[in-house]
Amino acid sequence: MKFFIDTANLEQIKEAQDMGILDGVTTNPSLMAKEGITGQENIMNHYRAICEIVDGDVSAEVISTDFEGMVKEGEALAAMNPKIVVKIPMIAEGVKAIKYFSNKGIKTNCTLIFSAGQALLAAKAGATYVSPFIGRLDDISTNGLQLIEQIRLIFDNYGYNTEILAASVRHAMHIIECAEIGADVMTGPLSAIKALLNHPLTDKGLAQFLADHAKGN
Ligand code: E4P
Repeated sequence: MKFFIDTANLEQIKEAQDMGILDGVTTNPSLMAKEGITGQENIMNHYRAICEIVDGDVSAEVISTDFEGMVKEGEALAAMNPKIVVKIPMIAEGVKAIKYFSNKGIKTNCTLIFSAGQALLAAKAGATYVSPFIGRLDDISTNGLQLIEQIRLIFDNYGYNTEILAASVRHAMHIIECAEIGADVMTGPLSAIKALLNHPLTDKGLAQFLADHAKGN
């Protein structure tokens, strides 16, 4: 399973990249705003900075909600760096835009997926990735992981190449369960990724090994 980090924070992106486990980055307008990045020029420069840090795909979201606007924005984003994946919302105009970019060989990530039907539509339009938001479903007492299972079954039934990018990941168990189900990618905060490191028996065992080694010196 590929690991993407879901942030626009350059320090956190660097930290994950330095760990050697990072396959890409996802961002959205809220994550950009959280880092204080506003204005089109600053946003574009920030994407450039992210692309310099990571080796893999970098999702950059369009703001337009009409087909022409999405195409214009998406083409400008894609022209900036080959790592850019144009992130497009799951709306009718977005599906048209995904089809347009797919025909041009430009990668897309269909965002704000909350149902299997939406994922199926995005896959039919040729999306590179679909992003089901599992944490936001859990937040409203709906099982987000069941949606990942449903989409996995549908995509496997028909051999869709569209990758399932489990998004809105909140904690380590989301990551582990996504891997069990067979999500192609997960995107989450650095805290969830680093939480995978932790086990008290590892800490205890290491302390014991070091103490025993010290006895012989
Ligand atoms: C996906 O690409 C989104 O940026 C993201 O995963 C949303 O997560 P949130 O629900 O934690 O905001």
